[in-house]
Amino acid sequence: MFTFDGRVVLITGAGSEKGIGRATALEFAKAGADLAIADLDFAGAQNTCALIEELGRKALPIHLDVTDPEACEKAVQEVVDTFGKLDVLVNNAGISQKVTIADMTIQDVERIFKVNFYGMFNITKPAAAAMKERGYGRIVNLSSVSAKRGGGIFGGAHYSAAKAGDLGFAKNFSREYAMHGITNNSVCPGLINTDIWKTLPKEQADKIIENIPVGRPGEIKEVAAAILFLASEEASYITGEEIDINGGMHMD
Ligand SMILES: NC(=O)c1ccc[n+]([C@@H]2O[C@H](COP(=O)([O-])OP(=O)(O)OC[C@H]3O[C@@H](n4cnc5c(N)ncnc54)[C@H](O)[C@@H]3O)[C@@H](O)[C@H]2O)c1
Repeated sequence: MFTFDGRVVLITGAGSEKGIGRATALEFAKAGADLAIADLDFAGAQNTCALIEELGRKALPIHLDVTDPEACEKAVQEVVDTFGKLDVLVNNAGISQKVTIADMTIQDVERIFKVNFYGMFNITKPAAAAMKERGYGRIVNLSSVSAKRGGGIFGGAHYSAAKAGDLGFAKNFSREYAMHGITNNSVCPGLINTDIWKTLPKEQADKIIENIPVGRPGEIKEVAAAILFLASEEASYITGEEIDINGGMHMD
């Protein structure tokens, strides 16, 4: 795998016990990185940090609501003050909601966009400024297959739109920041074996699996592997790109 010796990584939303963010944080730690874990769930962030420290790496828990732009600026500053720099940002914090357009309210749309799109912007902007000063940076966003195929699993149309917005933003960002040594890529997971998957009734779960050529949900580690690749030095010539991790459910 890739080495992150001497690298400093900030992951948002990595406090969730069974989530993609924590698993990704632990893979970064195993690969030699020190990490800052920023989450609305501070106890969760602290738990992730304890696991990182058990792997012999440094870890900084940050209580952060990504919908708050000033708090995001402060969080990035705290990372730089603590570790001296920021090399990698993983925009992982996200929320979803299963609701039809007919039942969707404008408040639903705002809530989903505030976390999944504005939250990405709020932390990306100060992170990019810190990375630009040193002429190096890697940003990886957690988008979704829903952004490309128009939902169809758990999220509503607002979730699809916010996650598609993340992809458009990353492409534009890439044009603006490529000459500063900063890349910005995304992963688009399909159905991943997290807690929400296990809550589905068997009949519904079987129906979803029927449409996945690989014949099973993805594992969190399979998402983490793609994130580490895009965050590695070796991926220096890839920017504004997306990796689909969906077992063939959607191909483009
Ligand atoms: N699980 C899947 O199948 C799947 C598929 C496609 C995309 N994704 C995306 O991957 C990411 C991680 O998904 P997951 O299933 O591991 O999620 P999760 O629910 O396990 O974890 C999300 C984390 O984000 C944090 N969070 C929520 N709102 C926040 C805010 N305002 N500020 C800071 N932190 C906040 C939560 O506290 C939580 O720790 C999300 O962006 C999600 O949309 C997940």
